[in-house]
Amino acid sequence: MTTGMDAVRQSFGRPDGFPRHVAIIMDGNGRWARARGLPRVEGHRRGLQTLREIVRHAGDVGLECLTLYSFSSENWSRPAEEVRELMGLLKIFIRRDLAELDRAGVRVRVVGERAGLAADIAGLLDEAETTTAANTGLTLVVAFNYGARNEIARAVRALARDVAAGRLAPEAIDEAAIGRRLDTADMPDPDLIIRTSGEQRLSNFLLWQAAYSEFLFVPTYWPDFSAAEFDRAIDEYLGRERRFGGLKAGVGV
Ligand code: FPP
Repeated sequence: MTTGMDAVRQSFGRPDGFPRHVAIIMDGNGRWARARGLPRVEGHRRGLQTLREIVRHAGDVGLECLTLYSFSSENWSRPAEEVRELMGLLKIFIRRDLAELDRAGVRVRVVGERAGLAADIAGLLDEAETTTAANTGLTLVVAFNYGARNEIARAVRALARDVAAGRLAPEAIDEAAIGRRLDTADMPDPDLIIRTSGEQRLSNFLLWQAAYSEFLFVPTYWPDFSAAEFDRAIDEYLGRERRFGGLKAGVGV
């Protein structure tokens, strides 16, 4: 018999214990720049270089899914110049790197609110997804204009619409029905969430999907994060025991 817990376990980890899905909160660009007397935007530019290195490395080690928190729905409150710079970096990333990502077999997915984005940005996000849709290598999930509460609210709205239209009985609303209406519908939940820069918060990132994730907080500012540190994070993850609310193997009454 397959139980609900089996389903939870099966959505995590590979038989060899290697994580299927790693998600990263790329934090510390501003502090990296300040420590060097540079403008904050310089930290973001260096952060984009790190992002490229980590995407390449994640593909090389055979990771199935990598999610990067690139711009949160709260980041609009930053100074206009910084927001402009971050939008510019996203455009540079897609325009310059899309062909190479495609060649490397990377499938790009975008999560976050699309409504209200500037037409050029929305167009590039669509282009990245459609160009790479058939690829079977690393799935790179770009969390852009993303906020988990906003994602959940949109899913609830979709459920309400289905109920109002008579397509869904309220009794049929369960965890799976909610999960299917999230931006991450067909992705595995993150096994490991890494946050750089020493901050220990989730900051509205993947709140639903992180129910059983392992967390790793590293002091390194994102521009200094490296492939070697990514590997150390995976090693640390592999040393952890995941119980999904159950007991340690071999422990019982
Ligand atoms: C956090 O650093 C980082 C971000 C808000 C954005 C992450 C952006 C990049 C890695 C550059 C590439 C960008 C895109 C959109 C592809 P912070 O500014 O909050 O740093 P601080 O906490 O030290 O001030």
